[in-house]
Amino acid sequence: GRRWTRVEDLSGTLADEEVLVRGRVHNVRGKGKSAFIVLRQQTATVQVVLFVDDVHVSKGMVKWVCSLPRETVVDVRGVIVRPESGEVESCTQKDVEISLREIHCISRSVPTEDLPFLIEDASRPETAFENEKAQYVRVGQDTRLDNRVLDLRTPANNAIFKIQSGVGTLFREALLRRNFTEIHTPKLIAGASEGGAAVFRLDYMKLGPACLAQSPQLYKQMAIMGDLEGVFEIGPVFRAEDSNTHRHLCEFTGLDMEMSIKEHYDEVLDVLDELFVSMFDGLNERFAREIGVVGTQYPFEPLQYCRPSLRLTFAEGVKMLQDAGVEVDPLGDIGTETERILGKLVKEKYGTDFYMLTRYPINARPFYTMPAPDDPNYTNSFDIFIRGQEIISGAQRIHDPKLLAERALACGIELPTIQSYIDSFKYGATPHGGCGVGLERVAMLFLDLNNIRKTSMFPRDPKRIAP
Ligand code: 4AD
Repeated sequence: GRRWTRVEDLSGTLADEEVLVRGRVHNVRGKGKSAFIVLRQQTATVQVVLFVDDVHVSKGMVKWVCSLPRETVVDVRGVIVRPESGEVESCTQKDVEISLREIHCISRSVPTEDLPFLIEDASRPETAFENEKAQYVRVGQDTRLDNRVLDLRTPANNAIFKIQSGVGTLFREALLRRNFTEIHTPKLIAGASEGGAAVFRLDYMKLGPACLAQSPQLYKQMAIMGDLEGVFEIGPVFRAEDSNTHRHLCEFTGLDMEMSIKEHYDEVLDVLDELFVSMFDGLNERFAREIGVVGTQYPFEPLQYCRPSLRLTFAEGVKMLQDAGVEVDPLGDIGTETERILGKLVKEKYGTDFYMLTRYPINARPFYTMPAPDDPNYTNSFDIFIRGQEIISGAQRIHDPKLLAERALACGIELPTIQSYIDSFKYGATPHGGCGVGLERVAMLFLDLNNIRKTSMFPRDPKRIAP
């Protein structure tokens, strides 16, 4: 067979060698007896050069190449040359060129003027538009998402989804190292799993009303009651919240874990500490190039994290906020804006963008959360933040079936819909705890992006169900 080369791997060490590359016509321009194609493959581009020499390249060939619409898929055979003018290699553009020998059209795109937008335009950093006189076309979020397939071709987006995949892989690897078992819980369930009204309802054959799971919460706990010891799941989570914000989706990917604990829910935090530090290290090592590519369009400060991770109690957080003149209810929840302020205060004082806030007031937590043994106003619970925004919420869970039923009733849950869950704690129940992580939020905040739709490939929000 023929040997294919990846554009990413082209370099001066291949000078004078022949390569075979499949890519897209990113751009093509002709000039007299020559033509230049910028060939794009995933996050990398390379210039392909044609000169009419009547040996390899004819006049007709130059003309034909110039007629190729952008985005057309082509196979190119040519020889690697170093350009005469000392072109500098950027993160995405290669510093060598391909001197064309042969070119084949594999799949022609629509005429360039019929493209919803040019990848070139969709790849520009925001700073390109700061100058009022800037001539560039800005591609809006809705246009991008309506034409997501094209939008994914921008180098930054391509890199974002590689990094996002890494978040899931590193989560899985860290828990498998600790002998956790990966599970798959049902998404069609009888009742709400997190309480509240935010469930998608549907008809389940002859059994009547059912809903889409708001989380694997009840089932991962039942797996622990089935003596699986430590479990995790990576799967879809459905929330029928009418929240039109930069950080809420109606369907997102949940990274959930649950584990038995011996003495204290700190054991869960210890696992998460190791997990996230190794995840951030892993992302920085494995995706250094992709992180750089994202930075070309969305410049950002690398995430600061410390080891071990910082843990503060909710009360300590409240104190920091009050000292800074922010009003907070010490027994309520703190809102998004206040969380951001606290994130800034924590960064100033401790120099970290990643921290854990523990021991939330009971009013701020779901029914299954374990009250603190020394003070029923608080719970054995935690949230974890990146850059002042929540990515994780977790807790020790109530394992006494009587108390669990009481708390569910108090939170307005219809007991019959969760009876088998409550019953599962009757046959001797192991103390346990765990958490749920939003995959898109981790990717968004690691890269300091401003919208969760940038890290959801086909986002579902109150206004979008297609494509
Ligand atoms: O805070 P949440 O609702 O907690 C649970 O689902 C619990 N069962 C977790 C547990 O084990 N106790 O969701 C967990 C995480 C949040 O921290 C956030 O990162 C993400 O899921 N998340 C969302 N992501 C995108 N869009 C939404 N609408 C989200 N809601 C929560």
